[in-house]
Amino acid sequence: MRLDIISIFPEYFAPLDVSLMGKARERGILDVRVHQLREWAHDVHRTVDDTPYGGGPGMVMKPEVWGEALDTVIGDGSPRMIVPTPSGRPFTQELAQELAAEPWLLFACGRYEGIDSRVMAEYGARLRVDEVSIGDYVLAGGEVAVLVMAEAIGRLLPGVLGNAHSAVDDSFAPGAMRNLLEGPVYTKPPVWRGHEVPAVLLSGHHGKVARWRRDQALRRTLANRPELAAALDPETLDKHDRRLLEELAFRLPPEDMAH
Ligand code: ADE
Repeated sequence: MRLDIISIFPEYFAPLDVSLMGKARERGILDVRVHQLREWAHDVHRTVDDTPYGGGPGMVMKPEVWGEALDTVIGDGSPRMIVPTPSGRPFTQELAQELAAEPWLLFACGRYEGIDSRVMAEYGARLRVDEVSIGDYVLAGGEVAVLVMAEAIGRLLPGVLGNAHSAVDDSFAPGAMRNLLEGPVYTKPPVWRGHEVPAVLLSGHHGKVARWRRDQALRRTLANRPELAAALDPETLDKHDRRLLEELAFRLPPEDMAH
């Protein structure tokens, strides 16, 4: 996968040289190219922003600079373009999977109040352009959001995770555990500072281990993400699930209200 990033702070992307993403680049799975937006600004101060039409606080990124930068990086190609912004559609595991299947992604990082909207209109006529938010909070710019998205996408690329199955059990991956958070995990020693590993995990009884893990997943989902629990599809719940939810005084939606 090719991944281009345009930003006025290319230094932000140093983490892409290390760990999982660094290895993916060494192995040739990921081709990351970071560009300094100011290279396409022509005045002595390399200005990239100006005051907003209509008034208001802050500054808006200028369309001409972005236009030249994007034309150069895109060339004759057609990457899928992502613009990180708190006003965008939510970044989810589903979107990460969709983007992981693309051959070429281009991230355009805005600072200040954002990029002049005509830039998205102009390139949206030629490319698939998505404005994407990583959550309901406001960052100082899109750079950290791009790091988040790049890592979530990068770990899904074939050959990036050591264990090919590591991504399968993720809390938000499709499948049986969909929309259930993962429960607690333990390793050796069996007792640490008086805290014991739950005996069932040492029992060697795979069925009981699986049931215990599912109970823990349900409990954690109810406690930490009640809105995910409320969206559980009753058809994916067995009688043990139902008994546990009842015990925890959790009301399932009526059958006909699912979906
Ligand atoms: N830029 C600033 N805040 C952001 C957010 N929450 N998601 C994506 N980009 C952003």
